[in-house]
Amino acid sequence: MSSPATDKLASEISSRLKAAGIKDAEKEADELLCLSLNISKSALYARDFSKVTGDAASVLKKLDSLTARRLARQPLQYIAGEVEFFGLSLTVGTGVLIPRPETELLVEILTGILSNKHKPNISVLDLCTGSGCIALTLAKHFPESIVHAVDISETALKYAAANAAANDIKNVTFYTGCLYEPVACMAFDVIISNPPYIKTADIDLLEPEIALYEPVEALDGGTDGLHFYREIIAGAPGHLNEGGIMAFELGDTLAHSVMEIARAAGFHNLTLKTDYSRVERFLIIA
Ligand SMILES: C[S@@+](CC[C@H](N)C(=O)[O-])C[C@H]1O[C@@H](n2cnc3c(N)ncnc32)[C@H](O)[C@@H]1O
Repeated sequence: MSSPATDKLASEISSRLKAAGIKDAEKEADELLCLSLNISKSALYARDFSKVTGDAASVLKKLDSLTARRLARQPLQYIAGEVEFFGLSLTVGTGVLIPRPETELLVEILTGILSNKHKPNISVLDLCTGSGCIALTLAKHFPESIVHAVDISETALKYAAANAAANDIKNVTFYTGCLYEPVACMAFDVIISNPPYIKTADIDLLEPEIALYEPVEALDGGTDGLHFYREIIAGAPGHLNEGGIMAFELGDTLAHSVMEIARAAGFHNLTLKTDYSRVERFLIIA
């Protein structure tokens, strides 16, 4: 492949993505090209094609097939099969939620709080772990901690376990089950969760990448989006150690309702934090 040829391909793919209403079409076209050539973005931009695997015909065939998947609005991260999250490379695909940048911010906020406490050997419970993104990054950041992570989806937990192995993280145990049920007799210093929080009626209104491809059980927070916050906060007194912390990612407009739920359950030390778009996105309960 020569650079004039790849420039032309990138421009063609970008136009097709743009016509289909896909944002960031140019960037995504470059990504699809890299995946087809099996090279990094930096190699593409440096016009270094020395590591391209496969002949031109096989590259074009792969590019065609990946572009068709993207035009059908399959998320780019599922097509690539991986995502970067807080310094870890995580495998993702059908059946597991794609970790979001907001959730990285939740991890950053919590690591800041925990680092200030100077208590390395904490016990952590990550409820609704999905790909394991929160559990694994906390386990890596606090290697003396013991992290427990629960999800109801066996498919999601297969990704999570594979992600632990691929990143050589050993201080996490994954459990299949509903919320506290698999850890019924245990208590923790930290309970953290990014639970499903979309109102049931709003799921079909989401972008097709989410509504058509991401698992509904990772999205559906019940009629008012609050189902999981109610359950997790109600169960916390039996599972949170003295002086423990809870940390939640919140749905777009749910911050004050979740604070009400927490207050009604007897938690009063509440701190809201905003995300990159200044949405009240995180609740810390200390
Ligand atoms: C919004 S996703 C979050 C995934 C991951 N923590 C993240 O931040 O990317 C919510 C997860 O909750 C899981 N889930 C749904 N209902 C559950 C339940 N009753 N108990 C445990 N996990 C549940 C889903 O399978 C999904 O993986």
